[in-house]
Amino acid sequence: MCETHLTAYDLLQPFFIIEGKNKKEAVISMPGINRFSPDLLLKNIETYIHCGGRGGIFFGVSNHKDNSGKYAYASDSPVVKAIKAVKKHFPDFWVITDVCLCAYMSHGHCGIVEGNKINNDKTLPILSQMALAHAGAGADMVAPSDMMDFRVAAIRQALNKDHFEDVGILSYAVKYASAYYGPFRDAAHSAAKFGDRKTYQMDCANSREALKEARRDIEEGADMIMVKPALAYLDIVAMLRHELPLPIVAYNVSGEYSMVKAAAQKGWVDEKSIVLETLTAIKRAGADIIISYHAQDALKWLR
Ligand code: PBG
Ligand code: ZN
Repeated sequence: MCETHLTAYDLLQPFFIIEGKNKKEAVISMPGINRFSPDLLLKNIETYIHCGGRGGIFFGVSNHKDNSGKYAYASDSPVVKAIKAVKKHFPDFWVITDVCLCAYMSHGHCGIVEGNKINNDKTLPILSQMALAHAGAGADMVAPSDMMDFRVAAIRQALNKDHFEDVGILSYAVKYASAYYGPFRDAAHSAAKFGDRKTYQMDCANSREALKEARRDIEEGADMIMVKPALAYLDIVAMLRHELPLPIVAYNVSGEYSMVKAAAQKGWVDEKSIVLETLTAIKRAGADIIISYHAQDALKWLR
């Protein structure tokens, strides 16, 4: 009578990539998660593939930060090196890259800052350059998470112009301004130095706006639509599943992960049961794909 089966096809693992060689750094606020240099990332992905893993989403963590975001599209960035290495050894591994500027900006915001404001339109060409750098390295899909308006159209145009028609766009169309991103900002050194992200990320009080954002991104050329975070927003996942004709991706974010890990470390919850219940529930709500820091563990438990 079981209606929902979680499989390896449903899961994507996030990976944090740093510069250098033979480097592995633990993320304190996310027990079990590390940042890897491209060479160690490759080894880690080999292990992940042995567990049944089929794809992942790559995040760059950078010490090079300025106010232009130029390190985001460097042709020798750790993310570019990682994509090349992984695609060379595992051509069938599905590589998605996060496209955003916050990890490359001194102020930690996701776009170009002028005065105290984000300049939406000046951010678009930088994001497009970043997407091109990743596509050129062999990424299968790019995932813009900046939340600027019209960035899906800008990236789609730039990719097509350089003959990357086959590179897809997973749009973080429905990304709420959320306290659940706290541990991620620690992992990616990407916390904003002033203000907050509420002028470009969504208000948790809104659900009709989610449909509007998603429809606009589909018109602009998005191939998949993401809802983020997942657990407090399963109503949004379910609504989009009913209303939209393309795959819905739910992001089980860092804060959701860390709460489970912390409680499990104290012996207050059973980690395996709670993780499999959570992931099954996200799928039941309507997610076609789930991005989760628990993915690798879940794959081991599912075997
Ligand atoms: C960058 C980005 C963030 C996340 C994914 N991409 C953080 C943010 O917007 O501050 C959050 C992921 C997580 O919490 O696991 N724009
Ligand atoms: Zn960002």
